[in-house]
Amino acid sequence: MSETNFDAAEFRRALGSFATGVTIITTRSADGAPVGLTVNSFNSVSLNPPLVLWSLATSSLSLPAFQSSPNWAVHVLAADQHGLSGRFAKRGEDKFSGLDTEAGIDGVPLLRGCMARFQCRTAFQYEGGDHVIFIGEVRAFDRNDAAPLVFHGGRYAHATLRDPPEVQPRSAHLEGSFGDHFLGYQLGRSHFRFLAQIRRYLTDAHLSDEDFYVLSALTLKPGLSTADLDAGMAGILDESGHRAVESLLQRGLVRRGAGSDAELELTDSGRDSALRVIGAAKAVEEQVLQRLGPGEAPVLKSLLARLLNVIDPAANALWQEKNLDAGAPAAARMR
Ligand SMILES: Cc1cc2nc3c(=O)[nH]c(=O)nc-3n(C[C@H](O)[C@H](O)[C@H](O)COP(=O)(O)O)c2cc1C
Repeated sequence: MSETNFDAAEFRRALGSFATGVTIITTRSADGAPVGLTVNSFNSVSLNPPLVLWSLATSSLSLPAFQSSPNWAVHVLAADQHGLSGRFAKRGEDKFSGLDTEAGIDGVPLLRGCMARFQCRTAFQYEGGDHVIFIGEVRAFDRNDAAPLVFHGGRYAHATLRDPPEVQPRSAHLEGSFGDHFLGYQLGRSHFRFLAQIRRYLTDAHLSDEDFYVLSALTLKPGLSTADLDAGMAGILDESGHRAVESLLQRGLVRRGAGSDAELELTDSGRDSALRVIGAAKAVEEQVLQRLGPGEAPVLKSLLARLLNVIDPAANALWQEKNLDAGAPAAARMR
């Protein structure tokens, strides 16, 4: 039909540059079984009358169900529902197995925990190349405040609002200067402010910041040797880390196995202290993150994880199954 001779993969990539939300559209088959699939061709059409549209591939196993049932429901997915999206993007499997659904209009299965749901009735249906376009009249809807799941360039993505209202506009004299938008300033100040809120719990437990770093490393990865800690914490702990290990050993919070570079492990009281402070630190984290907007915490964490990966690729190695090579410079070793 088309006179154009597109490179199909390039055409797909170009279409994928249009960022969309992600929905799951459900209905019931003629024999009453729940049917559904992941769809990002959803869009609004009209406010009055309330109309929405989406397109379904003619190759979809769900097509007969949508052609026989005039009722269907669109579920706009929240950022934490990418697993559900993956499940409904699989072909023909029992996608509803183990899912807690409720019954909508005409018994259409409704999923829970979504940002918005539109219960619709097919108003028009058109052929559109290798897809069928459904236009539905919205008969009921509900919505929740949450962050949306986004699809862009063939991958799931995060969305966050620009210029949240609580961020003050920058003063004119700071524009273009080295200052409050400098990454080092933002990270450093956030780090010290964050740690300051945890420090009173450290003080109660008679632990220094460095003690806490060593204890939490050993909680996550028991059996680290001093060389592992050296390599993993190089530039962060160094000499202060050596002192922390010695002090923790003396106070019976950490013990050393046998051997030349013996593994360090927490004693019962060391584990107890570490878990108490880690619990308090998690509570502080929760309070701080709650002050961000919906969905901003996962975006922040995802970007910080990427930054850490770029700036300190060795950080991941500390938490890998295999111990780090004891490849740190001799001067930085803790033995
Ligand atoms: C993010 C995303 C968006 C999708 N959008 C659509 C769409 O708009 N229309 C469609 O027919 N398939 C779409 N799919 C593909 C279907 O979900 C997939 O082919 C599914 O296996 C169909 O299941 P079925 O054959 O059991 O009906 C999308 C998949 C993903 C991951």
